[in-house]
Amino acid sequence: MTAPGAAFGGPLLEVRGLVKRFGGGGGLFGVGGPEIRAVDGVDLVVGRGEIVGLVGESGSGKTTLGRTILRLTEPDDGSIRFDGIDVRALGSRDLRRLRRRMQIVFQDPGAALNPRMRVKSLVGEPLVIHGVARGRDLEERVAALLAEVGLERDAMHRWPHEFSGGQKQRIGIARALALRPDFLVCDEPVSALDVSVQAQIVNLLVELQRRHGMAYLFIAHDLALVAHLCDRIAVMYLGRIVEEGPAAALAARPLHPYTQALFASSPPPDPEIARRLRMPIPGEVPSPSDLPPGCRFHPRCPIATDRCRAEPPVLRELTAGHRAACHRSEELLGGATLFPRDASSSPTSGPGSTGRSTRGPEPASP
Ligand SMILES: Nc1ncnc2c1ncn2[C@@H]1O[C@H](COP(=O)(O)OP(=O)(O)OP(=O)(O)O)[C@@H](O)[C@H]1O
Ligand code: SF4
Ligand SMILES: [Mg+2]
Repeated sequence: MTAPGAAFGGPLLEVRGLVKRFGGGGGLFGVGGPEIRAVDGVDLVVGRGEIVGLVGESGSGKTTLGRTILRLTEPDDGSIRFDGIDVRALGSRDLRRLRRRMQIVFQDPGAALNPRMRVKSLVGEPLVIHGVARGRDLEERVAALLAEVGLERDAMHRWPHEFSGGQKQRIGIARALALRPDFLVCDEPVSALDVSVQAQIVNLLVELQRRHGMAYLFIAHDLALVAHLCDRIAVMYLGRIVEEGPAAALAARPLHPYTQALFASSPPPDPEIARRLRMPIPGEVPSPSDLPPGCRFHPRCPIATDRCRAEPPVLRELTAGHRAACHRSEELLGGATLFPRDASSSPTSGPGSTGRSTRGPEPASP
């Protein structure tokens, strides 16, 4: 493996042309069905200590992208460079070493924690696997990790089922932190939790990010949260990044009709209603196994033209660091609003409206 890139001056993570397909028939084990291009040529850069939000409707490929970056799912094409290291070229031993630096926090903490392991083993397992600690030292390290995520030392002797959803997620975060990673994929880390504890977990993640200077790829449905929390936002639709830019600029003036639609239909404050409105944008998401020609959003886009139906748009930089893949983004630069925002759900009425001078949600009791 290339030497860890303390001396590498480039971005922490640089993904180019990443592709992950599922199905397609004829596989070694007879994996049939139509081919699904879950991640279809994604470019993504995450800087050191940067929080990049990844948003998009259900099925757009966010989880697959996050997992493929970590090689929890094997990519089919493209490159992944982490701190200058070619992640795709690593053998299993070097990949395991690199995993110390790249971890994931899962959406459903209940499902992610082995019910037959006590908390001490769950949190301590990465330390044991990587030969970092054992015995008394292991116990002290687990206690310190539990303290970091707001859990008592005694929690280490208990089983996952003895904890609430929020506490389980704290355990999942402690496990992810155990090896002091530089990069965390947070895959909708609060969407399975009661609304009463969501802010606490988000606050915890923000606090940990500030304390340790980690970079996050923060996958979420809640655009107001992402706009507030993140330095940059990438918007995904049917396997592709369709817009990407500084969070404040992108939230204030989305330059892709799909992003406008997402913001206009941003989840209402009531999480139960939000859960039922998983796909609030007019029109159906086309099947990823039968993608429309040209721009993939054209069947749902109110300003689609013949060119849109024929020619796939590429990501283009329209203002500083703000890119969109749309033939008509220049017109949106002028402030055209295709999908009027509901004032009650607009990110401009949420915490994101305070701009980027301070990062993090409103304070909540731990
Ligand atoms: N293991 C798999 N086998 C086959 N298809 C898969 C697999 N994992 C994901 N897919 C498909 O890939 C596409 C992208 O799924 P993915 O879970 O990455 O989307 P997502 O954006 O994370 O959605 P959500 O917001 O619901 O979590 C979907 O069409 C999904 O059905
Ligand atoms: S390229 Fe055309 S169809 Fe696609 S989002 Fe832009 S205007 Fe709409
Ligand atoms: Mg997902």
